[in-house]
Amino acid sequence: MEESESRGYRFGAFRLDPHERVLLCNGLRVPLPRKALELLLLLVAQPGRTLSKIELMDALWPHRAVHTNSLLVAVNALRSALSTRMLGAQFVETVPRRGYRFVGAVQRTAAPLDTPSPVPRPGPRAAAQGAPEVFVGRTRELQQLLLLFEQAREGRGQLALIRGAAGMGKSALVRCFARGLAEGGHTARIATGRCLESHGSSAAYLPILDALAGLLAGPHGASLEAQLELHAPGWCESFPELFADGGSHRAPSLEAASRESLPWQLARALSAWSSAQPVVLVLEDLHWADPSSLDLLRLLCAHCRTERLLVLGTFRPRAPGLSGEATPSESALEALSACALSELAHEYALPLLALVPLDLTELVSYLDACLPENELTPSLPELFLRKTGGVPLFAARWLQVLRERGQLAQRGRWVLARDISELEGSAPDSLEAVIRHGLAHLPTTIQQALAFASVEGDEFRTCVLAEALPGSTLELARELAELARRDGWLVHVGQEELPDGVLTERYRFAHVLYQNVLYDGLSRQRRISLHRRAALTLEAHGCGRHSRFLAELAWHQERGRRFSRAVATLISAAEHAARIAAPREALLYHARARTLLAQLPQSEQPTGLQLLHRQQELPVPAGL
Ligand SMILES: Nc1ncnc2c1ncn2[C@@H]1O[C@H](COP(=O)(O)OP(=O)(O)O)[C@@H](O)[C@H]1O
Ligand SMILES: [Mg+2]
Repeated sequence: MEESESRGYRFGAFRLDPHERVLLCNGLRVPLPRKALELLLLLVAQPGRTLSKIELMDALWPHRAVHTNSLLVAVNALRSALSTRMLGAQFVETVPRRGYRFVGAVQRTAAPLDTPSPVPRPGPRAAAQGAPEVFVGRTRELQQLLLLFEQAREGRGQLALIRGAAGMGKSALVRCFARGLAEGGHTARIATGRCLESHGSSAAYLPILDALAGLLAGPHGASLEAQLELHAPGWCESFPELFADGGSHRAPSLEAASRESLPWQLARALSAWSSAQPVVLVLEDLHWADPSSLDLLRLLCAHCRTERLLVLGTFRPRAPGLSGEATPSESALEALSACALSELAHEYALPLLALVPLDLTELVSYLDACLPENELTPSLPELFLRKTGGVPLFAARWLQVLRERGQLAQRGRWVLARDISELEGSAPDSLEAVIRHGLAHLPTTIQQALAFASVEGDEFRTCVLAEALPGSTLELARELAELARRDGWLVHVGQEELPDGVLTERYRFAHVLYQNVLYDGLSRQRRISLHRRAALTLEAHGCGRHSRFLAELAWHQERGRRFSRAVATLISAAEHAARIAAPREALLYHARARTLLAQLPQSEQPTGLQLLHRQQELPVPAGL
């Protein structure tokens, strides 16, 4: 294709660089399938002139016989990309029985498209650090997030919610947004905190503590620590593990701590801290949020409206189809979180970004980005859309399966090694099935290690896993690192120090559905024995004496059927929750302990009852 001598073109809100092959809309990169971009280059170089179908097909597919449908697919992809971003404006006109022409004013520009995209897609820097994360579509959502950030920077903060089913791309969206802020030169302090599905769901402030730990370990950690000491002494006292020195240098300021609730203290500390630079808190998977975190969110809804604080909360809808109905597997806590979130959204008219599946154009861009230099039939993206429903995680895993099976092969260019009808027949029929297919491809020892890891939860530690597996710990560590680096099953979270001083690596399943599938595949007996082993390992590392581990330890003890131990741990957890004024968590632990007591043999009941009695003597915290 002949390139224009000029450096680029402008039309409407778009800028097109033929050399870099980049299309921007209001500074944001517009993903376009390769052929659609080439078509645009042809049309825009001769605005107003009708280019015949033959002429276009010869230019786009030289020396290849292709069906005219291919041209139509490219035209449709181009039209849809341009019109959704320009509210329906049409640039590509059909000239009946002749061809297509570009309508609208085109300006040639000599300068390169040097305007940095405020929310760029993963760039070469990301690629240099390892496999770049492919991210397509979601332009509207990214623009919305950028707008919210700009408002927060001006002191009009918000809590915004991002809703989408499992695997719909909530985490990928916030990651892309956060990376875009950094790459776009925006100064912001960004942290992510996660709610955990398993044991964590009743541990007070879990996602907030996770986010604070990230911020405190970051480059501005010292200034945050100073603000917490000043405005949130209750946090310093209740969560000493947040601080590198274990909070030892801090004089407890009980008077200040009791004057204001923990949520208020934190809100004040964040206000003071964000005056220097805006703060973005991403709280992931709020459908598993603990009651204290939900209380804090409620407070932040009102509080951050005059602050430089943007809180982004991701959550799953309660039931597929967004009907709002509970699913049979939904826990009481999930139902509670869902109600609290919808109440908040309604009461404060919170911005809600509802993620929908990727469409055909976006899937075309996705396949083009994952398989650069390809010669794939246009019916492949259509098949992807039909089989995966456009759910990004489903599409990503199926693509990986096709590569691993050699059904997609790189022969100079990526090609389909089988007939498309064969793919149609062998395609997995659900997201869970495609995850199982992918797991089956891994070596048996790795499959076994991951299945054991799933017992720990969506996050796991190598030291616990090593206890349950034969073979050397070193070999295991190497295999896990490889799995995180190469195959995308795991994410390395970091190192963790256990109460006895032992350092262990911590990993997370790249998606919680992987953990769900693996855990579901274990027999009941196997689960019990592995939970028991996990409980014993944690006990041996002193986790029963440390508040941070109590919820998790009790969960393993209960599932490992060490009920007597579990009751004792739950009572300690309830006492801790009451001490930090987290009354609802205290009650949840208490209720769980009561249920378990009923399962204890008669001989152990008195001890359990004594423990419960102790708990009942605790003052019921204010607020209940
Ligand atoms: N917009 C997107 N473009 C390309 N891939 C995506 C996109 N959104 C999600 N994915 C893929 O799907 C996977 C699951 O997405 P994730 O954000 O973890 O889902 P969720 O958080 O909604 O459960 C990601 O790891 C990524 O591979
Ligand atoms: Mg997620």
